[in-house]
This record gives sequence, C-alpha cells and structure tokens, in this order.
Amino acid sequence: MQLPPVDPRETGEVSETEPIRICFVCLGNICRSPTAEGIMRALVEQAGLSGQIHIDSAGTASWHRGEPPDARAVAEAARRGVELQSRASSFHRGDTHAYDLVLAMDHSNLADLHDLTPEPELRGRIMLLRSFDPALGADDPHDGAVPDPWAGGPDGFAEVYDLIEAACAGLLEHLRTELHTDLRTEPD
Ligand code: 4NP
Repeated sequence: MQLPPVDPRETGEVSETEPIRICFVCLGNICRSPTAEGIMRALVEQAGLSGQIHIDSAGTASWHRGEPPDARAVAEAARRGVELQSRASSFHRGDTHAYDLVLAMDHSNLADLHDLTPEPELRGRIMLLRSFDPALGADDPHDGAVPDPWAGGPDGFAEVYDLIEAACAGLLEHLRTELHTDLRTEPD
C-alpha cells in the first residue's frame, strides 16, 4: 500500500531542523554579493524554503559599510524583478564558523576568506559560488569567477546577474538535497 506523502511542516520536523546558513562574499558588498543575496532570497522564497535557508552577504573590505547596493546592481536586479535590500557589511576574521557555506565571487575573495579563516578545518565551507553552476565548463572565460563589474559599465552588471542567477539555481538544488538528507537522518 502506498502512503500519501507527508508534509514535513505538519510533522514539525522542518521547524526543529536548524536552518542552513549561507553567506555570499565579494570585495565591497555593494555589487556582486548583494545581487547574489537578492537572487537567492527570491529563489528560496519561491521554493517555500525561507525558514530553512538563512542568507547573508558581506564584503572582505569595509569601505562601503552601511551603504545600499550600487545603483547599477539595483537597476539590473529591478529589471529582472528582484529587489536588493541589503546594507553593506564586512566579513570578519572568525566569521566562517557561523555559516555552513561561504560563497566567494572570485579567486581573490576566496584567498582573502582563507586568510580570514584561521581554523583549517572550516576552510572546506568556503567555495566559489560558480562551482554550483551545472553549466560551468573547463573553458569558462572567467575561470569560474563572477568578475568584478564595479569599474565597468552597465553591460558588466547584466552579465554578472546572469552568472549569479545560473549559479544560485544550482546552489538551491544542492541545498534542497542537503535539507532532504537532514530530514532523513536527523533524530526526532
Ligand atoms: P563588489 O564590487 O565587490 O562586487 O561589491 C566592488 C565594489 C567596490 C569596489 C570594488 C569592487 N571598490 O573598489 O570600492
């Protein structure tokens, strides 16, 4: 006999499960990582997983702390129907322990994050965001990074948006699997 599927929200399993905590990191926290935060928030909301995935963003530099995202990033996201609402903050030494995944935009962010993570056992939590893009190939023109659009024109922001959107879709699929694994293996 086949039993009807159980909605985990009705059994309370999901609310008892700690949310997965992720943080997107770029240099200034005003262009790429706020875009990733906004896109991921929208995808997670659409998937009905807002209570289970906690999303932050930060910059390795503190120059823009407290500022809203760059107007060009806000405009590109708005054109795609996504609102960017973050305020810039900086990623501090030791912050990695607070996250399950820390997602760097480029190789320089990745190296800085390793320097900011004194515990070698936590460095496996730090990954390039685009490593979750299922279409990423060995011949990628950006070497697996989301390039810094800050010094360029609006076209750069459109390309950055596309790259981040593809990676976030792959990241969501990865996190869904993690959540299902948690539900199967967590004791009640
Ligand atoms: P983000 O872009 O790292 O994607 O936020 C930048 C923003 C500001 C600067 C560099 C990159 N800056 O040099 O101020």
